[in-house]
Formats: sequence, C-alpha cells, structure tokens
Amino acid sequence: MQDAARNRFDRIADNYANSEVHASSPTLQQLSELVGDRTDLEVCDVGCAAGHTAFVFAGRARTVVGVDPSPTMLGNFRTLARSKGLEVEAVEAFAESIPLASDRFDYVTCRLASHHFSDIDAAMAELRRITKPGGRVVIIDLHGDDDPELDGLNHQLEVLHDPTHVRSYTIARWRELFGRAGLEIVHLERDVSERPSGVPLSRWCEIASSGAAAHAALVTLLEHTDPARHEAIGVRRGPSEYMVPVRTCIIMGEKPR
Ligand SMILES: C[S@@+](CC[C@H](N)C(=O)[O-])C[C@H]1O[C@@H](n2cnc3c(N)ncnc32)[C@H](O)[C@@H]1O
Repeated sequence: MQDAARNRFDRIADNYANSEVHASSPTLQQLSELVGDRTDLEVCDVGCAAGHTAFVFAGRARTVVGVDPSPTMLGNFRTLARSKGLEVEAVEAFAESIPLASDRFDYVTCRLASHHFSDIDAAMAELRRITKPGGRVVIIDLHGDDDPELDGLNHQLEVLHDPTHVRSYTIARWRELFGRAGLEIVHLERDVSERPSGVPLSRWCEIASSGAAAHAALVTLLEHTDPARHEAIGVRRGPSEYMVPVRTCIIMGEKPR
C-alpha cells in the first residue's frame, strides 16, 4: 500500500497544490492559534504534499522541513515555498521511516495524511522520535465514528473516494495511538470540518482524481443510505449534489522532557 499511495499522489500532486480545501481551513487557523506568538521554531511537516500546513509556520520558524514520499509533491512544495519567500528543506521519505535526527523539532505536524499510513504505530513512533523533549506532535486528520455502523459507512465512502485510504481512526483509537507513542495529549478537538459549508461531492472527487465510476458509486451508495445516517456523518444534500464535510480532529501531544 505504501508504494501505491506514493505513486497515486505523485500522479495527482498538482490537485493538492491547487486545492482550496487544503490551502485554508479552520484546522489550519486553529494550528496557528495553538502555536501563538512563538518564533524561532524548528518545524517538520510530515505528509506535507504542497506544504499548506508547513506554511502556517512562515515567519515563525527558523527551519521548515517537509517530508513526503512523492517527488512531485515535494517539487510543488519547494515552488510554492519559493513564491512565498520561504526557505524549506524537502525530504523524500515515508512517515514510517524518517531519515532525520532524533529530538530535533519544536513542532512535528501531519495533516490529512495519516489515514494513508500503512503502519500507523511505526509512523507515530517516528513523529515522536524527531520531536524535541517538550516539543509537540500535531495530528490533523479525518476521524472515524464511535458508532461501528456509521464508521463502516464512513470507511466505505472514503475507500471509494481514494482506494489508498487505510483508515480514519476513531478518537478512542487516536488516544490509544498517542498513549502508545508516549505523547501526552494537551489539546484535542473533534468533529471539526475542513470546509464548514461542505465540499461538493464532485469537487471532493476531482481533488482526489477519484474518476467517474467512483463518483457514480458514491452517489449510488448515498442514495441507498438512510438520510439520518448522512446527517450523522455530516453529509448534506445541497441544491444540486451531496456536500461532504471532510470531518477532522486536531490532536496535539507533548513529548515528555
Ligand atoms: C492529502 S495529502 C496531504 C495534505 C497536506 N498535508 C496539506 O496540509 O495540504 C496526503 C499526502 O500524504 C502523503 N503520503 C502518503 N503515504 C504516506 C506515508 N506513508 N508517509 C508520508 N506521507 C505519505 C502523500 O504523498 C500526500 O502528499
């Protein structure tokens, strides 16, 4: 799955550079507020894609490193950073094995990427390892549902949208993953939407290059689902099509000193 995800994202890298959903969102605003007025930071963004999360640290960081397995994503990251006058370092690697020194970064961020990791425990261990003692790991990602049936529906939708989707973890599972990695949760918000007005289903599919067949299968699945279940997972019927919430959590964990 690692290579399949890397190859897929490499093919569709430009979609993410140009995605309004990725470029600005309530969670990026929240991340900015959590960092506050701290400056001179060393920051690493894992699964950085075009760098929209890394760019939150412009003007606050001494060093910004982006890690991603897709060379084309990293090329876009460098180009966008240059256009913002920001110096960055781009590292081609999977989150499960990051070729960077231990205990280095004040913040290690990872947004909308961890649901693609084939070994989430290994990735969490790596995110912790490269964080300084007293530094913070911030995960922003899609999350699953506490109700197993709704969680199953959510998973079906996500896999149709992107076949390299591994899992949107429930909040209980995230708590377990942070605990197992030795990170103390200092901030947790759930049921945040990356786009509170919703993303039209066709646009959501366009960003991921899901294809016409997947789009049609998503519509069919939603048409055959009780509308009460749509509401429970935040999907709405807009005037002309379904609107998806891109429902995320933001979890910040501290590495003990
Ligand atoms: C939706 S994009 C991330 C968006 C980006 N973080 C942002 O805020 O705009 C998902 C990224 O995860 C990367 N990815 C997939 N599998 C990965 C892995 N095992 N380790 C690190 N990154 C991975 C992909 O190459 C892709 O660039």
